Amino acid sequence: MIKPSLYLLAVAAGMIASAAHADPKTNFVSRCGMCHQAGGEGLAGQFPKLAGRAAAIAQAPEGRRYMARVVLNGMAGPIEVEGARVAGVMPGMAAVSDADIAEALNHALTLGKPAKPAKPFKPAEIAAVRAEGRPTMADNRELRAKLVADGVIK
Ligand code: HEC
Repeated sequence: MIKPSLYLLAVAAGMIASAAHADPKTNFVSRCGMCHQAGGEGLAGQFPKLAGRAAAIAQAPEGRRYMARVVLNGMAGPIEVEGARVAGVMPGMAAVSDADIAEALNHALTLGKPAKPAKPFKPAEIAAVRAEGRPTMADNRELRAKLVADGVIK
């Protein structure tokens, strides 16, 4: 028979293991917050701000596809965010499920009281981008430059 103390320990371990899936905020904070910060405010020079910006980028279908691509496959090299240079590396997270990526992105969409709310991501939308293949970090930065030129990203 299992000792009660061991049983309680097992229950606690299970709760910790599932914490990342507990709610969208916890998902975002645990997967994205160490870089983009818990409220998506970013870190000057290193990590782009997502608060307010994520919902703006997600208004356009190409912007949504770009966001899913960056989370799945990462991006590196200098970019310009609201007129300031950011030079960092975002690792791809292809090992994370479509549902968890959608949920983390959806929390990002709500940050910073965006002027215009964005339609939430569905796991199928992430799956479709995943099925396109695996662009490199440089490919994603090239796509970003195009979206900046098109006014999708500011
Ligand atoms: C290890 C740090 C790190 C983690 C973790 C991380 N990011 Fe990033 N993210 C970055 C960096 C750095 C960039 C900019 C890359 C560059 O400079 O080329 C970026 C770029 C982005 C962009 C594009 C922003 C723009 O202006 O084009 C989005 C969207 C994004 N991240 C979302 C997320 C989400 C959602 C998560 C969690 C699922 C996440 N990131 C986790 C570091 C990170």
